Amino acid sequence: SVGSLLILPGDGIGPEVMAEVRRIIDWYGEKRGLTFDVSEDLVGGSAYDKHGVPLADETMAKAQEVDAVLLGAVGGPKYDDLDFSVKPERGLLRLRKEMDLFANLRPAQCFDALADFSSLKKDVIAGLDIMIVRELTSGIYFGEPRGIFTENNERVGVNTQRYTESEIDRVARSAFELAMKRGKKLCSMEKANVMESGILWREVVTEVAKDYPEVELSHMYADAGGMQLARWPKQFDVIVTDNLFGDLLSDVAAMLTGSLGMLPSASLGLPMANGRPKALYEPVHGSAPDIAGQGKANPIACILSFAMALRYSFDEGAEADRLEAAIETVLAQGKRTADLLGEEGVTPVSTTEMGDAILDALEAS
Ligand code: NAI
Ligand code: MG
Repeated sequence: SVGSLLILPGDGIGPEVMAEVRRIIDWYGEKRGLTFDVSEDLVGGSAYDKHGVPLADETMAKAQEVDAVLLGAVGGPKYDDLDFSVKPERGLLRLRKEMDLFANLRPAQCFDALADFSSLKKDVIAGLDIMIVRELTSGIYFGEPRGIFTENNERVGVNTQRYTESEIDRVARSAFELAMKRGKKLCSMEKANVMESGILWREVVTEVAKDYPEVELSHMYADAGGMQLARWPKQFDVIVTDNLFGDLLSDVAAMLTGSLGMLPSASLGLPMANGRPKALYEPVHGSAPDIAGQGKANPIACILSFAMALRYSFDEGAEADRLEAAIETVLAQGKRTADLLGEEGVTPVSTTEMGDAILDALEAS
């Protein structure tokens, strides 16, 4: 076995897109002799339904042991009124926090066959290949104090942006390491003009840069960065930013390449005893309740997440290339799930038909 993989399909379209990944994993076992020690478990609303919590302790323990966790998506309207402490998203946040997955890698790649689909000019995105590194375990989504308080006879909603020096240091190092393996160009984004956490961020990143003299470092205010991402994204190679800005900027990057249904992600932590980093792979999209159960979901983001697992957790870069090439082939054939189509024209393929086509292309590779 190449290693261990825990699969957490989750809610909504999560299980639908993960079913296609399972078929691809089976194909790798049968045709390429690449077998994974696969286990499957519940997360999010589906875990709440069974255990009363969005992530059982046994599942958490298992996640700590495996080489990689692959997650579909969590959440849905059925769970919207649950107490905050047991909301489906808490299952995902617990995984990220307890595995200490501080570096969230979000690539924005443009498949040539989709360059026309973007609302941007073709030359702006054709051949685009950038990586956003988002800090994932700290910042305003976690900072205390937080809550809705009553003050002067009215309610006040409070969240706190908070970063320690070491939190900034380790995510900056991940980004510099990544930049060394790519175009040796790193852009750090914050709001040092209006936020103290931004001032510290800029100072610490500049300090870490001394250990990476080969990497060309630049700084940008995050709002200007959003504008530049839409204007000329190819000016970037690796971008490093905090949790909140990274959440927003990576959604912008998602639309550069066409659809949330195309965007994978990886979240990495510190190396384990076997040298592999703690790792969670998941599509950027959510559980898409508006299309769940209809066979319309695009499985490619989840399949590309598995490709990232092949590359970053299992050292199977060539097989990851093979899988990405199969996806490019299928897109070049004109196969499109509904999210990749405009108003008129081609009939969309279903989730399963997209999976079939990718398996055919793998078979032919
Ligand atoms: P969403 O990503 O689920 O959906 C946004 C839009 O994109 C919808 O119109 C959806 O149909 C479409 N879409 C998303 N993935 C797609 C795919 N693979 N193929 C085709 N179309 C796709 O975000 P939304 O609607 O804001 O949230 C829905 C639920 O998902 C909520 O409960 C939310 O909390 C949860 N969520 C979970 C995330 C996760 O598990 N990591 C991330 C974001 C949201
Ligand atoms: Mg988001």
